[in-house]
Amino acid sequence: MDYKSIIAARIEPFVDMELTAIERLIEIPPRADMGDFAFPCFQLAKVMRKAPNIIAKELSENINNEGFEKIECLGAYLNFFLDKAAFTKGIVSEIETKGDNYGASEVGQGKNVVIDYSSPNIAKPFHVGHLVSTSIGNALYRMFNFAGYNSVGVNHLGDWGTQFGKLISAYKRWIDEESLEKDPIKELLRIYVKFHDEAEKDPSLEDEGRMYFKKLEEGDAEATELWKRFTKLSLKEFQKVYDMLGVKFDSYAGESFYNDKMEAVVLELKDKELLVESNGARVVDLDEYNMPPCIILKSDGATIYATRDIAAAKYRKDTYDFAQNIYVVGKDQSLHFKQVFKTLELMGYSWAQDCRHVSFGLVKFADRKLSTRKGEVIFLEDLLKESIGKTLEIINEKNPSLENKEEVAEKVGVGAMIFTYLKNSRERDIVFDWEEMLSFDGETGPYVQYTYARAKSILRKTEDHNASADFSKLVSSEEFELAKTLSKLQEAVLLAIDKAEPSVVTRYVIDVAKAFNKFYNSHSVLNVEDDGIKAARIVLTRATCQVIKNALNLIGIQTVEKM
Ligand code: ARG
Repeated sequence: MDYKSIIAARIEPFVDMELTAIERLIEIPPRADMGDFAFPCFQLAKVMRKAPNIIAKELSENINNEGFEKIECLGAYLNFFLDKAAFTKGIVSEIETKGDNYGASEVGQGKNVVIDYSSPNIAKPFHVGHLVSTSIGNALYRMFNFAGYNSVGVNHLGDWGTQFGKLISAYKRWIDEESLEKDPIKELLRIYVKFHDEAEKDPSLEDEGRMYFKKLEEGDAEATELWKRFTKLSLKEFQKVYDMLGVKFDSYAGESFYNDKMEAVVLELKDKELLVESNGARVVDLDEYNMPPCIILKSDGATIYATRDIAAAKYRKDTYDFAQNIYVVGKDQSLHFKQVFKTLELMGYSWAQDCRHVSFGLVKFADRKLSTRKGEVIFLEDLLKESIGKTLEIINEKNPSLENKEEVAEKVGVGAMIFTYLKNSRERDIVFDWEEMLSFDGETGPYVQYTYARAKSILRKTEDHNASADFSKLVSSEEFELAKTLSKLQEAVLLAIDKAEPSVVTRYVIDVAKAFNKFYNSHSVLNVEDDGIKAARIVLTRATCQVIKNALNLIGIQTVEKM
């Protein structure tokens, strides 16, 4: 039910203004006593050459008020008060009919959106920043699909670069095969860190590393074999995290995928006279745009990260003909993406403007920045397991007799983490705090999931009540506010994809949970004499569950029936 368009259509016959213009002017008043929607008449006053309060008054006398409790003028405003019962009835029946599809739309029909997310580096730990990227990307993936787009999820693995030469050298010197099989990333990280320590004492190691990377680039059998093995072992580890999170990708085309596509990029840049020499390297000069140059070939002729991203963007345009090409990557890479997008623009690609860096802040744990350098890292899988473990402790305390506690703890523990990452606007730094994150009250994942489970437990105590529901008595402010909140899922999703900001939906689901708890704390659902009211409240509760489920699903969190 789109009230703004209904209202616009009722106003239109009496004024000199287009329907869409009227609709754009309609506001949501700041206070409930000013109604649910308001139409300001100032703009009309100009075109109709009449005082705005006179227009408002005339409109209030003539407008068709069917479906509204009342339509009043107040100064230059026309205030619309919804018929609460009709509204609530309408919205819950829409939710019941659409079910898992409630909130979906078709605005993106026929358009592809490429989303590059997670994108961890082979042989390096999947760190917390990658988890944020994974959570945001997965949420956007789901939301774009829900709005009718076709999302393409790309895991742009960091599987190429000089570090693989170093790793091969380190492997040959120090690998412990047993540890490599048991805990591959820890072992690969150990020898990589050792390489750096040793190279400080003996710089010739760096040359050896370069030599191995050269071999790898030339397709040397042994080097390639080792590189493939590192990739395979790492992917297996990453997959554990993706399984825990329920995340999938349509493509794992990582940096190495573009090896045979970069020569063409270099030639094209040369042809278009964009390549200049700078200290032996080949770069695109971006001085004019107040940016350092975008390096394409290093002085030894090797391509780098940016070269691969230019090739990847072109490949994505050719392959998916995207409407949007999104990169969910930390804000420390802002300059890199600005340079890449500018270079694409200079190459003459108008679609450069459809490329979008969706950046996010740092995750802070206690008071230090998480980093993979120097081996000072927190392993994500451990972190997820810790979250699950702590959740299990809480459940053991609160609800020791709960069935399949482990399964519940997994969904709630993992959900709590995702929720924390998606709660605030993404540019803000995230401060990691177990107690806050796992709390059952406050704006947390467990709070929303607990609200859902509690509502479900009410529904389990009763049968189907659709037929006897009497909405005419469901007019308290708590019931009406809840119904109004339920009606806003689609709006939240569309705003979230517009701003590439999943937190809009996370905040929304917090609002739903709060509105439900407010309703539930002031009205009994089951202990009501009047069968019609009781049935209507049950239907409202069921609709609330559906909306929480849909919204949580969009941010990648599963609901639990009991908790
Ligand atoms: N592998 C990179 C990192 O861990 C992120 C890659 C992001 N995607 C891209 N197309 N550059 O920092």
